[in-house]
Amino acid sequence: MLHNLTKIRPILVLLVPLLLATGCFPSHPQSTFEAAGPVAESQLQLFYIIFWAAVFVFVVVNGAFIYTFIRYRRRANETQLPKQTHGHTVLEIAWTIAPMIILAIIAVPTITTIFYTADPPPGQTLELKVTAHQWWWEFEYPGLGISTANELHVPVGTAVDVTLESKDVIHSFWVPKLAGKMDLVPGHSNKMWFQSDRAGEFYGLCAEFCGTAHAQMRFMVHAESPDDFDAWVNSIKAKPADMTGLAAKGKDVFVNKGFDGILQGETVKAQRCAFCHTVEGLAIRGAVGPVLTHVGGRATIGAGIIDNNTDNLKSWLVDPDKMKPGVGMPVLDIPDDDLNALVAYLEALK
Ligand code: CUA
Repeated sequence: MLHNLTKIRPILVLLVPLLLATGCFPSHPQSTFEAAGPVAESQLQLFYIIFWAAVFVFVVVNGAFIYTFIRYRRRANETQLPKQTHGHTVLEIAWTIAPMIILAIIAVPTITTIFYTADPPPGQTLELKVTAHQWWWEFEYPGLGISTANELHVPVGTAVDVTLESKDVIHSFWVPKLAGKMDLVPGHSNKMWFQSDRAGEFYGLCAEFCGTAHAQMRFMVHAESPDDFDAWVNSIKAKPADMTGLAAKGKDVFVNKGFDGILQGETVKAQRCAFCHTVEGLAIRGAVGPVLTHVGGRATIGAGIIDNNTDNLKSWLVDPDKMKPGVGMPVLDIPDDDLNALVAYLEALK
């Protein structure tokens, strides 16, 4: 039995990673193999062309290898070395030219795809400006006069013409099912475009190491029908409803009440929510943290890391640094009464 196990050990070594890899199916929200739009599709096609070219080279080279091992192995009755040769002009030329031909063939679809994805998208587009911050995303729609944070809404079937900028360090914008990565560089604008051909929610993430909470710098793309998108735009344009009860108290706390706390080891005094966050319609506007005008309508908080619900909002306000180490929001000493009022207010901002 043990003897047999030793024999099949190499097969087991190959099988285990294969089984682990298939364990990823069927939930693969960040798989590039399930393109949902033309940009991701063109990049996927290019991947397949290069992949099959590589498979061809692998099979030819290893086939020749294995054939040589078997055909020219040392037999039991052989005592002398075979005739030694050095250099073979025809072979040398052949295996120099063959890769050149393969690379030239691959270059054609590669360059075509680069031009296709780098050119401005054809037809009518939706303008979007993405600004990366440590560690959250700011989304502005210049043509619509609205902005939001961490959750992007786009209409299905419309190309989104994206301008990418950064407030601090280099980040990278990546929605695996919609388009390949593009860096956001401080002091420089990058361009890209993408389009979703079906409605759905797509995971996005920062794909360039940008500091402590890089792994928690996520976002969500909601691709929706043009009607749903228009409804969302109108809801964002609308002023938040008048607050009543606990939410009204929360609004007052948000604007007027200062709390002491700690920010990355340093003591901070009398911090008000509204110093850092904008809620449209309030007398003061903060520009440090994400805009919160309609935060109650978002599916996630903390830049896509946790579900937006009462418990998580509370935990976030109590200790944002625990949920997102290194975050720019201080850990504030907020009494329970004010905390509950703030949560009620944020949830009412729909
Ligand atoms: Cu931003 Cu990594």
